[in-house]
Amino acid sequence: MGKAARPAARRRHITSINDLELSEIGKIFSQAESFLRTLGDPSRKWRVGKSTETAKGAILATLFYEPSTRTRLSFESAMLRLGGKVISSADPTTSSAAKGESLADTVRIVENYADLLVIRHPRDGAARLAAEYAHVPVINAGDGAHEHPTQTLCDLFTLRRAHKTIRNLNVALTGDLKTSRTIHSFVYALARHGANILTMPAKGMELPEHVAWRLEHEFRSRLLPKAEQGEGFDAVYVTANRPHQLALIPTGKNIDVMYVTRFQKERWAEARGDYPTIDADFLKAEKYSHTSVLHPLPRVGELDTALDSDRRALYFQQAAYGIPVRMALIAALLGRARKNSLEKFPGGFRAERTPLYDQPTETGIRCANPNCIVHDAMERKYTRNKFHVIGGARLRCFYCETDILEFVAANRTSGEFTEQAPKSLKDTLFFASAADAQAAGFRPARKLAAHA
Ligand code: NCD
Repeated sequence: MGKAARPAARRRHITSINDLELSEIGKIFSQAESFLRTLGDPSRKWRVGKSTETAKGAILATLFYEPSTRTRLSFESAMLRLGGKVISSADPTTSSAAKGESLADTVRIVENYADLLVIRHPRDGAARLAAEYAHVPVINAGDGAHEHPTQTLCDLFTLRRAHKTIRNLNVALTGDLKTSRTIHSFVYALARHGANILTMPAKGMELPEHVAWRLEHEFRSRLLPKAEQGEGFDAVYVTANRPHQLALIPTGKNIDVMYVTRFQKERWAEARGDYPTIDADFLKAEKYSHTSVLHPLPRVGELDTALDSDRRALYFQQAAYGIPVRMALIAALLGRARKNSLEKFPGGFRAERTPLYDQPTETGIRCANPNCIVHDAMERKYTRNKFHVIGGARLRCFYCETDILEFVAANRTSGEFTEQAPKSLKDTLFFASAADAQAAGFRPARKLAAHA
C-alpha cells in the first residue's frame, strides 16, 4: 500500500522533545504517576510481576544501531509491563544493516511487523529520516549528537517528583554539552518550562551555536555575555525571560540541580584532558547543599561513586523512572491512555513553523553537519536537501536541525543571487557560496545602489 493510502492518524512521531507540547508532557507524567501507583516505586517497593493490559496485542520494535543498556531494556520492559510484545534488533552487525541495507528500507519493512518503532542511530537526524518513511509512530531513542527526547522525559519526571515544579529551578549542566544529545533535548525542555540554565562545559565542549541560539530566540531564554557572569564561576548563564522576566541566578544562589554528562568519546576524534569531575568535594559549597545530582548514565569516571549513598544523588532513581515514563509514552502514542493519549497529528511544539525548502540531493546547498544522516552513504538516496528557512538568515536542516548561517539564495527566474533568504521560496535555490552559485550559472544581484 502506498504512503498516502494509509491514514495519517497514527503517524505521531517523537523525534525531538519539541514534538511535544508542554501540556502533552504533563499528560505523559500524569499517566506515568498512575503506572507508578500500579507498579510500586522501583527504588522502594517494586511489586514483582505487576503489569497492565494497556498495550495488549500491540508490538513494539527496537532498532538499535548504537550500544544501549537503559534505553533499550527500559523500553522493552515498559512494553512488556503494558502487556504488549517486543521484537528487537539490538546489534547492527547481525541485521541486514551489515549487508548494507539502509535505515529507510529497514523502517519500511519493520513497520509491517510492529505498531511502534524505537530507533537509536549514530547519525544526527536519523530519527527524522525514519519518521519520513514510517506509517507507525517512531520514537527517537538517541540520534547521534542531535537529541534524546525520552531521556529528557525521565529527567523532567525525576525533577518534578523531587522539586514539585521545574519552573524557576536553577539547573547547572556539566561536561560535554557539545555532543551530548541528552543535554540538547534537556535544555530545550528546561527553557520551555521556565527553568534557569547554567552551563559549565568542559573546555571546548560548549553548547552548539544553533542550540544556544534556539534557547535565546525561540525558547525565550537569554544567554548572558561573559561580562555579566557571576564572579568565581567559569560558566555562562542562560535564563528564561518568560514568564518570569530575567530572573538571573545571582552568584552564591543555590543550585537546585547538577546534571552531569560523560565525555562522548564516540563523537570526538581524540580524547580530551581536563574533563570536569563531580564529587563530594566539588559539592561541598553551601549553594550545593540541596542540589539534586542527575546523570543520564553510563558514567565513566566523571561522577564519583562515593556520591551514590549521598541523599542528593538521584541518578539511579532517574534511570528507574524510565519504566513508568516510557510506559506512559507508549500508551499515549498507541492511543491507549484514555484522556492521556496524545492527539494524533500533527501536534507538538514547533517554533519553526517556517517555510520548508526542499530540493533533490544533487541540487544546491547540503547540510553542513558532517554527521548528519544526509551524508551517510547508505541513506543518501533516501534524503533530500531540506531546510527550514528561519528569518531570512538561517537554514535549519530538516533532519539534524543544525543551522547554516552562510549561504546565498539564487532565483531561477532572474538568474541572480543574494545573501538573504527571500520571503517566498518559489524559484529559489540555495548554494553554500557565491562561487557555487556562479558555477551553476547564476550572477550576483545588482547592488541596491545601482537602482537608486
Ligand atoms: C545516554 C545516551 O545514549 O545518549 N545514555 C542513555 O540513554 N541514558 C547518555 C550517554 O550515553 O552518555
